[in-house]
Amino acid sequence: MASENIDQAAIEAAARALEQGALVAFPTETVYGLGADAENPAAVAAIYAAKGRPQDHPVIVHLAPGAPLDYWAADIPVEAQALADAFWPGPLTMILKRAPNIPDAVSGGQDTVGLRCPSHPVAIALLRAFKGGKGGVAAPSANKFGAVSPTLAQHVRDEFGQDGSVSMVLDGGASMVGIESTIVDLSRLATHGPVLLRPGHISAEAIAAVIDQLPSAPDAAAPRASGTLESHYAPHTPVAMQDSATLRQTLLELAAAGRKVALIHYSDLPSTHAALRLPTTPDGFAHALYAALRAMDGQGADLILVEAPPQGGAWLGVNDRLRRAAHGSTGIVHGLLNQAAP
Ligand code: TXA
Ligand code: MG
Repeated sequence: MASENIDQAAIEAAARALEQGALVAFPTETVYGLGADAENPAAVAAIYAAKGRPQDHPVIVHLAPGAPLDYWAADIPVEAQALADAFWPGPLTMILKRAPNIPDAVSGGQDTVGLRCPSHPVAIALLRAFKGGKGGVAAPSANKFGAVSPTLAQHVRDEFGQDGSVSMVLDGGASMVGIESTIVDLSRLATHGPVLLRPGHISAEAIAAVIDQLPSAPDAAAPRASGTLESHYAPHTPVAMQDSATLRQTLLELAAAGRKVALIHYSDLPSTHAALRLPTTPDGFAHALYAALRAMDGQGADLILVEAPPQGGAWLGVNDRLRRAAHGSTGIVHGLLNQAAP
C-alpha cells in the first residue's frame, strides 16, 4: 500500500483508541498485530485475554522509526544498534535487557523486552500518531493462541469480529512477507552470543553479515517464545507434510479410501477435493502460506496435505511454520487410510 492511500482519519482514531487503553488490530509487513499501549499493563492484559494466551508469554513492542532504543532497553550492545540501522523498519525483532521503567507485563515477567520497528506504511503511520511517536505498541499476531497468524484484515475480523474485544481493525491489504519476524536474542550476547529464537525473512546469514557473528539455535536457557512452541500456527483440520513423490502416492491411496484432501502444493499433481498452488520461491511461498492454510481449513477436508518445500536456508522460516502446523497430526495419513471413511 502506498503512503498516499492511507486513511489518516482512521489512523488518528486508532491512535486515540490505543491511548485510551483499547485494542487495535493493524497491518504489518509480516502479519497483522493485535496492539495495545505497551506502557499500560491493563491494556496489555486485555491482549492476553482476547487471544486466550497464557500471561507469562512476552509480546513484542513496536516502535516508530527513529525511536530511541534506550527508552525501552538497558545495557544495549553496539550490535543491536547496528542491526536496527541495517534492518529497521523491517521484519526483525531484537530481544534486549528491559529498561527499569518498562512494565513487566509486556515481557511476561522476564527481564528482557522484544523490540521491532515494522515497515508497513499503515503501521508506521499508526506508531507516529500514537503518543506523538514516543510510545510503544505491544502486539502479538492478531489470532487466537496457537492458531494461524492473519495476513489479511478479514482474517482478523473472522477471528475477533464477534467478541467485542478489538475496538478497530485497520486494513492495509495483504501482509507482504507473510510469516512472522525473525527474532534474535541479544540479551545474553556477552555470554551466549546472538541466538536465533525464530527464523524469518531476515536470515541468520544476513544478521551475521552485519554483526560478524552467526546467530546460534536456541538452547534450553534461551527465553521462552510462544511462536517457538512445537504446536503452533495450526489450522483445525489436521496437517501433514510429504515430499512430492510420497505425496503423489498418498493422494491416490486417500482418494481410493474415499478421503477428502485439501492440497497445498507447488508442482503438478493430480486434482483433489480442494487445492491451492503456491509460488516456488521462498518469499512467494511465505507470502501466500497462511492465507492458504486458512482457505484449505475451510474446505471440510479430512486432511490438509502440504507438498514439503525444499530444505535450503532461504526456506527455513517456511519449513519452521509448516513443521509446527503439522505437529500433533503425526500418523494422520496412516490413520485415515486404515479407518473406514464415514
Ligand atoms: O512479525 C511479528 O513479529 C508479528 C508482528 C505483529 O509484529 N508479531 C508476532 O508476535 O509474531 P507474537 O506474539 O505472535 O510472537 C512474538 C514472539 C513470541 O514467540 C514471544 O514469546 C517472543 O516473540 N517474544 C517477545 N518478547 C520476548 C522476550 N522478551 N523474550 C523472548 N521472547 C519474546
Ligand atoms: Mg503469534
